[in-house]
Amino acid sequence: MTLGVLLVGVGGNNGSTFVASLMAHKEKISWKDHSGKICFPDWLGSTVMMGSTSREDRKSLFEAYSLTSPEDLIVGGWDINSANLSEAVRRAGVLNWQIEEQLREKLEALVPMRAYYDASYIASNQEERADNVLSADTPLSEILAHLRLQIAHFKMTSKTEDVIVLWTANTEKMVDELADVHGGRWENLERAILSNRKDLVSPSMMYAAASILEGCAYLNGSPQNTLVPSLRDLAGRMKVFIGGNDFKTGQTRFKSMMMDFLSLCGIRVSSIASYNHLGNNDGKNLSEDHCFRSKELSKRDVVLDVVEGNPKLYEGKNPDHCIVIKYIPNVGDSKRAIDEYVGDIFMGGKQTFSIYNVCEDSLLAVPVILDILLVTDFFIRQGLTRSGRTFFPNLTPLSLFFKAPLPDRDGRVVNIFREQHAILEKSMDESFHAEVSSVFITESSSSLSNLSFTDEDEYK
Ligand SMILES: NC(=O)c1ccc[n+]([C@@H]2O[C@H](COP(=O)([O-])OP(=O)(O)OC[C@H]3O[C@@H](n4cnc5c(N)ncnc54)[C@H](O)[C@@H]3O)[C@@H](O)[C@H]2O)c1
Repeated sequence: MTLGVLLVGVGGNNGSTFVASLMAHKEKISWKDHSGKICFPDWLGSTVMMGSTSREDRKSLFEAYSLTSPEDLIVGGWDINSANLSEAVRRAGVLNWQIEEQLREKLEALVPMRAYYDASYIASNQEERADNVLSADTPLSEILAHLRLQIAHFKMTSKTEDVIVLWTANTEKMVDELADVHGGRWENLERAILSNRKDLVSPSMMYAAASILEGCAYLNGSPQNTLVPSLRDLAGRMKVFIGGNDFKTGQTRFKSMMMDFLSLCGIRVSSIASYNHLGNNDGKNLSEDHCFRSKELSKRDVVLDVVEGNPKLYEGKNPDHCIVIKYIPNVGDSKRAIDEYVGDIFMGGKQTFSIYNVCEDSLLAVPVILDILLVTDFFIRQGLTRSGRTFFPNLTPLSLFFKAPLPDRDGRVVNIFREQHAILEKSMDESFHAEVSSVFITESSSSLSNLSFTDEDEYK
């Protein structure tokens, strides 16, 4: 049982750390830490591999529901930068250098596929990286065909039944959503693609469209609004899962637990001030306002359902909430997050929590990426959902892993960590024990797209 994975941004800190960590497991390597202790690959930080379920036997989700082994993942991907994966791991500087040294030959053989890049969607400081891109003059219709061909080729050569495409590339700016382009039916967005409206269609929307048209689940690890209604319509008609947005790994994960905890104690959180600084390429990209804005939005809304769910405490009033992110190159991938929570307590008193959190950003993100992939793969293999229900593309059991999750069938978004975890476990259990797994007929992608494949026989 193998699973194909295509990462958009495979040469970045998350992408390269993910690939090297999987390889470290497969090759069963070891290395010494700074004190000389021998270390082995592990999956700490993965809910699926290391967390326990509420079952009596306390098995992990991985054991309880026979998930695909991480060692059976076959990974490829795109990057706008041509560095091979060995160079990318060294550039990231996240993993102990002995890991890269032992895997060098195998990592060097992995070279990202040529990517679709539009400089206006990410920070201008990323331009120097862009040496592995399709020509800027290529019309969107050809770009879509090219991306589809790359996915189809990967599927064929990796000999995997299912392929999942996951965006772990730079945070893009938000697109202003227009009803007649991004709303309604897929044909609206398709029209914009056919008329080459690069101002309306972001690169991430292009990857998502290509992925869905190829029948591959698409997952968005960044905050931008890729999965607009017209793409959700396409996913629904193609019976393809989508998930997002923005990995929930550090400060926001803590916040989605802390808000719930304080509110359950009957303490009203009246302000949250969240400050971060980081020095990796993500931080560099976020140092430009239009990209920071996307991140700010996905981090902000995490408190909303706690406020709505505790009307007696909050009376509909949100806490003051401020988010700051600064780029300090010197700290590299080691992010510093400082949060101050102020709560109203008994008889006019105040309680203040100051939380200082230091972590290697990508070492928190990679186990979450693994979780997202294994859970998505599980639902694909289970035959999607229980019988008798129409297909709904938003894979909401994944909400635990995202800062700004997609809404469920009833339009509800759940941010509370505890509730999200219960939904994940319950959905997996129900799906695992469902008697009939319905077989969905996928609408033929050719009937959904006027776009034809390009003749180009080059997939890089
Ligand atoms: N803890 C975390 O690390 C964390 C948590 C939540 C969200 N995220 C998000 O995950 C994303 C990746 O984080 P990272 O630290 O790996 O960033 P990174 O900058 O190191 O990697 C991004 C990679 O994407 C590539 N890229 C940019 N545009 C592309 C395109 N159009 N096609 C293909 N490749 C493209 C870049 O060259 C780069 O190698 C960011 O958007 C970040 O905000 C990260």
